[in-house]
Amino acid sequence: MNKQLILNERPKGMPDSNTWKLQESPIPDIKEGELLIQNHYISLDPAMRGWINDSKSYIEPVQLGDVMRAGAIGKVIQSKNSHFKVGQTVTGWSGVQQYTVSNGEGIYSVDDSQLPMQKFLGILGMPGMTAYFGILEVGKIREGDIVVVSGAAGAVGSVVGQIAKIKGCYVVGIAGGKKKCDYIVNELGFDTAIDYKSQNIFEAIKEACPKGLDVYFDNVGGEILEAALSRLKKHARIVICGAISQYNTIDDMKGPRNYMSLLVNRATMQGMVVMDYAEKYPMAMRDMAGWIIQGKLKSNESVYDGIENFQETFKRLFTGEKLGKLLLKVIEK
Ligand SMILES: NC(=O)c1ccc[n+]([C@@H]2O[C@H](COP(=O)([O-])OP(=O)(O)OC[C@H]3O[C@@H](n4cnc5c(N)ncnc54)[C@H](OP(=O)(O)O)[C@@H]3O)[C@@H](O)[C@H]2O)c1
Repeated sequence: MNKQLILNERPKGMPDSNTWKLQESPIPDIKEGELLIQNHYISLDPAMRGWINDSKSYIEPVQLGDVMRAGAIGKVIQSKNSHFKVGQTVTGWSGVQQYTVSNGEGIYSVDDSQLPMQKFLGILGMPGMTAYFGILEVGKIREGDIVVVSGAAGAVGSVVGQIAKIKGCYVVGIAGGKKKCDYIVNELGFDTAIDYKSQNIFEAIKEACPKGLDVYFDNVGGEILEAALSRLKKHARIVICGAISQYNTIDDMKGPRNYMSLLVNRATMQGMVVMDYAEKYPMAMRDMAGWIIQGKLKSNESVYDGIENFQETFKRLFTGEKLGKLLLKVIEK
């Protein structure tokens, strides 16, 4: 049988036990041109919260009754598609389910002989690509830049900070709690950390960047974005990657009141969507793999078990109870 997570109801605020329901159905037979994937790990991403709203975005919303959209990695266990062989490790938009039937579109094989397959959903997957193109192509970092990144102990932010260090920047990470702040400084090599849960964010950024900041990589929005805007240097760049602090809000999203700082400082604020860089992923993967092998780029995954625990695990993205990339193991022994 195939356990699948179905979108049952559009939530108001934080998703709850009615948002998704688990359904079991027989594993379908594959037709000519198709392959059957047994998913091992599902990627849990903040963006999933946006995909279940019925509103216009960069991607169609998940429809009620559909399998929840998700990136996943697993093994081909049957194939009638000449591009895929049984035993290959493959990744793509396989959804929150244990088995996926695909015609191969949007499914890519990966060589996981050197690294655990989980890494291809994290540092060498969508979050890693987001960090790479966000900080290099949108943030346009230069040696000596002062770079501030929020969500700094998360899947994207942890990589952003490390790439900025590799490129010779001074890096300030913003994260929730002492454990995460210690991790980004002591394990990942950030220059300093701000614990936004225990410090006044406006004063802490001022203290960490007395001369201001060149690049702010925003994963969280809200008050932290406003605090970063208050410390811009001339020609600063702000990368709008996400706004997790606002995703479950029932009221209107909170925008920065002090956006005129962009004018005063001749600064730019630019949004980015990782999929726009898909053609360049192989180049980024080569760079990133090289840095991993050289020990310059580290990563962590928090892995939880069981498709039936999807909703409880998903909540960890918003409570922060995880380190690095959040994954759900869905393969059963
Ligand atoms: N534009 C794109 O193409 C693209 C692609 C991927 C991801 N994203 C965005 O990038 C951001 C990071 O994604 P990710 O996958 O790396 O997630 P993540 O950082 O691994 O997980 C989310 C983290 O956000 C922090 N957080 C939650 N609520 C917060 C709040 N109210 N204020 C401040 N921090 C809060 C938590 O860390 P703490 O414990 O530190 O609070 C949590 O661990 C998200 O906004 C996501 O939507 C965008």
